[in-house]
Amino acid sequence: MRLSKRGAVEPFHAMDVLAEATKRRAAGRPVISMAVGQPVHSAPQVALQAARAALDHGRIGYTDALGLLSLRRAIAGFYRARHGIEIDPGRIAITTGSSAGFNLAFLALFDAGDRVAIARPGYPAYRNILAALGIETVEIEVNAENGFTLTPEALEKAAADHGRIHGVLLASPANPTGTVTRRENLAALSGYCRNNDIAFISDEIYHGLTFVGEEATALSFGEDAVVINSFSKYYCMTGWRIGWMVLPAALVRSVERIAQSLYISAPELSQIAAEAALGAAGELDVHRDAYRRNRDLLAERLPVLGFTVASPMDGAFYAYVNVARFTNDSMDFARRMLAEIDVAATPGLDFDPGDGHHALRFSYAGSHEEMNEAVDRIAAWLR
Ligand SMILES: Cc1ncc(COP(=O)(O)O)c(C=O)c1O
Repeated sequence: MRLSKRGAVEPFHAMDVLAEATKRRAAGRPVISMAVGQPVHSAPQVALQAARAALDHGRIGYTDALGLLSLRRAIAGFYRARHGIEIDPGRIAITTGSSAGFNLAFLALFDAGDRVAIARPGYPAYRNILAALGIETVEIEVNAENGFTLTPEALEKAAADHGRIHGVLLASPANPTGTVTRRENLAALSGYCRNNDIAFISDEIYHGLTFVGEEATALSFGEDAVVINSFSKYYCMTGWRIGWMVLPAALVRSVERIAQSLYISAPELSQIAAEAALGAAGELDVHRDAYRRNRDLLAERLPVLGFTVASPMDGAFYAYVNVARFTNDSMDFARRMLAEIDVAATPGLDFDPGDGHHALRFSYAGSHEEMNEAVDRIAAWLR
């Protein structure tokens, strides 16, 4: 059968490890999964209650392509309360997870052959979605020298090396590095993009999970950024597949048209639950404080094992570690770790096709006891 070149994207290795871990768990193995970035907690109680009430009511249908107006208004209220910013709910689009938001943003902003700059190491789906859409990715290495984030200087150099850059995509807090980009850096990046007619996409999915530094939204620096966010991480709602975008006014109709045909709408049940979840900070902050304890535990114990923590761990819920002391093939290392001690982590190749062969990412969104147990098992294994 003839297959498209678009489908030949890299696998998302973390999902492959998840599938193997799920298989082992089903076979009764005591698997501790630190491979995939998802909280162990359930969605907030108020979200579950709202969803139950909606189910009792019975009729779950399509919504407007841009989502329920009440949810879009509630999200505008979130920006007012959290960031002191007034957003017209008409600029907010509800999406099927932030993943659909990337699709919509890329389709509405770029044509095939355009170039988009992203950080390396970075979230692999950016690269894979861009590749599937025929958009060129320009990967910029982030490291201790540039504060593990993108800078105007790095973008200037990338444009000189590769040609005009049409878009920049940055996550803060970032996956897998945990970098929280400083407010002044974000402002500089946003200004640089505006002055050079570059679309700036800010992935704010890990907002609410900042442990060191200040959490700024790109919306503070103008209405031209495309902000993408989600209920998956802080709100513990990965499986509900629900996220949102804040769009420049000029992009709204374009996104709406594409969304109508690609998705019709995000699931109504999830939209109802998400609206309730916006009011659940009390419950969710307890989980965030638990991640902070996990973070401190890993920051202390992983280096003792010889796993050098390779980046800041200031936000999100990941420890990205260098395992060069033990292997040059992190994929094989991750496979053996799962097969021999039932601890699942993600090989760095997902995040960094260049240097990822000696890196591993541990997600610490699990229980504290499990984190401790995982480190104990690894310590015994390495001995
Ligand atoms: C940086 C980043 N952006 C986006 C996503 C996708 O999340 P979702 O589609 O569940 O909103 C993830 C998931 O791990 C992520 O790490």
